[in-house]
Amino acid sequence: MSVQQMPKMTPQQYEVMTGGGAEAGELARRGLSRRQVLRRAVGGVLGLLGLEVAGGTLAMLYPNLAGQFGADIVVGKRSDFPAALPKQFILGTAGVFYVQQARAYIIHLAKDTPFLLKGVNLSNQLDSEWWVQDTDGSYWIALYQKCVHLGCKVPYRDDCDSFKCPCHGSHYNVDGEYLDGPAPRSLDRFKLVIGSDGSITVKTGTLNQHVQRPDSSTRIIPPPSIPCSAT
Ligand code: FES
Repeated sequence: MSVQQMPKMTPQQYEVMTGGGAEAGELARRGLSRRQVLRRAVGGVLGLLGLEVAGGTLAMLYPNLAGQFGADIVVGKRSDFPAALPKQFILGTAGVFYVQQARAYIIHLAKDTPFLLKGVNLSNQLDSEWWVQDTDGSYWIALYQKCVHLGCKVPYRDDCDSFKCPCHGSHYNVDGEYLDGPAPRSLDRFKLVIGSDGSITVKTGTLNQHVQRPDSSTRIIPPPSIPCSAT
């Protein structure tokens, strides 16, 4: 049969007829040419490479912070942080506890803490300053250690019943409210969550930087009555 007399056929049929082998036969059966197979293979490899690059980029943008500053940190159990009235605070023992890993002070105020505000005014202010009321009526706050003036670490001073920054003297009450000094606002605070198992978690990636200097209509805790020296 001359070339002109051959019936019309696809390249695949031609290849099968002319001895393309089992592989060619399978390709012909599936209606794929070698070029299509090659294209799909190259496409697959490029796709895998793309996924790998995207995965690496995401890992760089969102590093695994589990348990590190910037992530949710379980700082302990309720019983690790006994509550106290403001005047009874003792660092590490009652009412105020420093947690290095979270760069935060855990504040646990007793349920009968005296407040300057009442009713709706009080509940609005507690909400806006991220106070958490526990089932026993006590209150929790997680204060960021960083002074909102120029960023020094602010120590709690047992001798002052308050926080006093050693750099330029900014002074904050037991709940982080501004008292005096150059700081533009009260101490920032993290979100704190009490788990159903009694665990205390500080969300160090979620910071409230909007607690303003209080005035008589917004101050929650009475200022301490004792003077606080510079050092
Ligand atoms: S950094 Fe704290 S008062 Fe300036």
